[in-house]
Amino acid sequence: MLAPDVSRARRRLLVCQGAVCQAAGGLEARIAWQRRVGRGEAARAVVVPTACLAMCRAAPVAVLYPDGAWFARARARRVGLIWAAVESGRLGDAPGFLYRRPDPEGPDGR
Ligand code: FES
Repeated sequence: MLAPDVSRARRRLLVCQGAVCQAAGGLEARIAWQRRVGRGEAARAVVVPTACLAMCRAAPVAVLYPDGAWFARARARRVGLIWAAVESGRLGDAPGFLYRRPDPEGPDGR
């Protein structure tokens, strides 16, 4: 597999490929994410496979940066719904949404 080009895309999507996430459909999820967000210069996000993210109970796990949003049970069949929520700016409505890190630059620190 070629290393992803993280220099152009606005977002990076970390998709856990640890053993628990793989057993829960992580490989299929990674492939679905790559199809959904695109590749090369037209990519809306770069999909980056990672080792265990220490959230195995929520497998398979995906994390979106720079948004800082974590998604549980981000299986292939949920990828379209999750990405639709991302593009609409309603991360909290995404299936499996777990957490978003507070933005210290935000008006209320969230
Ligand atoms: S294997 Fe994915 S969070 Fe642990």
